[in-house]
Amino acid sequence: MSSIHDELYQRGIKVSPAGVNSPVRAWKSVGGTPRYIKRAEGAFMYGEGGEKWVDYCLAWGPNLLGHAPAAVVEAVQRAAADGLAFGAVTRGEIELAERILSGYPAFQRARLVCTGTEAVLTALRLARGKTGRSKILKFAGGYHGHGDGMLVKAGSGLVTFGVGDSAGITAAVAAETIVAPLDDEAAITAAFEQFGDDIAAAIIEPVPANNGLLVQRPEWHRHLRETCTKHGALLIHDEVITGFRFGYGGAGRLLKDGSGALAIDVQPDLVTLGKIIGGGMPVAAVVGPAAILDMLAPAGAVYQAGTMAGNPVCVAAGNATLAILEQGAVYAHLATLGAAFDEARAAGSAPWVRVGPIAWPWLGGGVPPRTDSAIPNSIRAPFGRIHARLLERGIHFPPSAFEVGFFSAAHTVEQVRTLATEFSDALTAVGG
Ligand SMILES: Cc1ncc(COP(=O)(O)O)c(C=O)c1O
Repeated sequence: MSSIHDELYQRGIKVSPAGVNSPVRAWKSVGGTPRYIKRAEGAFMYGEGGEKWVDYCLAWGPNLLGHAPAAVVEAVQRAAADGLAFGAVTRGEIELAERILSGYPAFQRARLVCTGTEAVLTALRLARGKTGRSKILKFAGGYHGHGDGMLVKAGSGLVTFGVGDSAGITAAVAAETIVAPLDDEAAITAAFEQFGDDIAAAIIEPVPANNGLLVQRPEWHRHLRETCTKHGALLIHDEVITGFRFGYGGAGRLLKDGSGALAIDVQPDLVTLGKIIGGGMPVAAVVGPAAILDMLAPAGAVYQAGTMAGNPVCVAAGNATLAILEQGAVYAHLATLGAAFDEARAAGSAPWVRVGPIAWPWLGGGVPPRTDSAIPNSIRAPFGRIHARLLERGIHFPPSAFEVGFFSAAHTVEQVRTLATEFSDALTAVGG
C-alpha cells in the first residue's frame, strides 16, 4: 500500500535529483522512502502521514535548543516583520559577532557567512593569503563542506595528494589537498616533512563527527598544533558541529575528558562555525585574530562576499539562540542527559560512543574506532534494520550508520533513556 511518503517521493524525484536538496536526506544508506516532515517542535518531529517521532537528527545539529524554540521563533518573526534582507549593515550583526567572540576569548573578529561550506572556503583562502602557500592538510574521514578542495579522499600511500572524491573536481585542485590518516602522529610529521614549505593550513574537526565519532587522543591534537606552528602553517578547527555544543565556545577550550581535564587543550589560529550559531537558520562564520581576519576585503586583500551574509532574520535566530546558551542552564541539562543515557545504555547491549550531546551507535564491536578505515561497511545492513524499527517505535535517528545523533535542551531524561533501551532491544531483535 502506498503511503503519503511514497506519493510525495514519486513527485519529488520528478523535480529534484533523487528527490532531495542534500544527498543524505534520500535515505540511500538505510533504504526505504524518506519520511516527509510537516512540522517539528521541541524534541518532536511530525510526519506528513500523522506520525510523531522523538528526533535525534535535529536538522543535522543546528537545533541544540530543540525544534522551533519559542524565543527563537519570536525573534525571527519580529525581525521578519522589519524586513527580510537589506544588504546593508545592522545592529544584529554586531551583536551576533560579539556573542560569538565572547565564546572565543583569543579572537577579535568574526565574519558571518551563510553555510559551513562557505566558512571553510573563506578560512582556507585566508590561510593561503596569510602564508602565501597553496596546500591544505586534511584528514581522512573529515568532512568540511563541499568545496572542491575538501571533497577529496586519500590515495593509497600514508600521506597522499588528494584524489577527487566527486566527479567534477580537477586533478589540479585535488592535488592542493594533502590527506593523512587520523590518529597517527607520524603521518602528520611525514606530511610536513614532505610538503611543509607549501602547507598553508591543516584543518580538523576537534571531534571528528562526520564519519562516525572518531575521538582523537589529546596528544595527537597537540602534535598537530606543534607541527603546524613549527612549519609556519595555520591550524583551523572546523567547529561547524562542535562550536557552542559542549559549552559556550569552542571544543579546544571546553571539551573535558572523563577526569575533567581539557580533552584537547590547543588554541587554533582560525575557527569555522555554522549550525548552532544560526539557531536553525543559515548562519555560519569564520572567527580568528584581527591580524588574520582583517586580511578580508575590504579591510585587506583576501576577497570574500555574500548577498545573504549576515541576513537580519537569520542573525536574529542566532542572537536569540546564543542569548539562551550564554546563561549556561542548557549545558547543565545536556550533561544530565548524557549521564542518564550512559546509565541506561550500560544496562543494554548496544555500544555507543558519546561525547557531550553527540552520540553515535558503534556497531563494529570492540574498541571505538579512531580512524575512518576502522569502520567496516558491514555496519550498514544491521543499522538499516535498527533504523526502520526505531522509526516504527517513534524514534527518528539520522538515516546512516556513519552519522551521529544529537541531544538537545528539549529532550528529557526519560527520552534519552528510551533511546538507549530501544536501540539495544532493536539490536537484539535484528541481530547485530
Ligand atoms: C565539520 C563540518 N564542516 C563543514 C560543514 C558544511 O556545512 P554546511 O552544510 O552548512 O555547508 C559541515 C556540515 O555538516 C560539517 O559538519
